[in-house]
Amino acid sequence: MSNEMVGGVALSVVDRMIERYGTSSDAAIPILLGLQETYGYLPLEALQRVTDKTETTPNQVYGVATFYGQFRLKPVGEHIVRVCHGTACHVRGAVGISEALSEALGLKDGEDTTADNKYTVETVACLGCCSLSPVIMIDDKVYGKLTRKKVKDIFKQLEREESNQ
Ligand code: FES
Repeated sequence: MSNEMVGGVALSVVDRMIERYGTSSDAAIPILLGLQETYGYLPLEALQRVTDKTETTPNQVYGVATFYGQFRLKPVGEHIVRVCHGTACHVRGAVGISEALSEALGLKDGEDTTADNKYTVETVACLGCCSLSPVIMIDDKVYGKLTRKKVKDIFKQLEREESNQ
C-alpha cells in the first residue's frame, strides 16, 4: 500500500477502499461512496487512482461520478444550504428564493459554493415541511415562509452572530 500523497489525497486511503470492495467494475460505486464519505467530494487524484488500480476505465469512473446526484466533483462548503424546489415551494416562489440566495451569497451563474468555501447551495425536491413553504435549510435548521428579504436578513444575522463569537 502506498504512503504517497497526491494533491492532498493519501493514496493509501484509496487503496484501502479498493481492498475492501474489490477491483471489478461493479465495485466502482461503493468505492466512490467511500471516498466521498472520506473527503466530502471526489478528488480527481482519487478517481485517477481508482482507474489505475481497478478494472474500471476512466470513462466508467467519470460516468458513475457524474450520473449519480449524490457524488460531488468539487469540495463542499462548511455549511450546506438546501433550497426546496418541490411543488409547494415552487408555487410559493422558490425561484425567487434561489435568486435571493445567490445574491446574498455572491454566487454567480452556475456557482454553488461561495469563494470562501463557507456555503454550498443545493436544490432539493422536498424538505418535508411544505406547510412552511417556501423553505430553505441551513445545515439542520429549517427556515420557512420565506421572502427574498427574509433570505437576505438570515445571512446578515448569521454574519453578525459569527462576528460576535
Ligand atoms: S415542497 Fe418544499 S418542503 Fe415540501
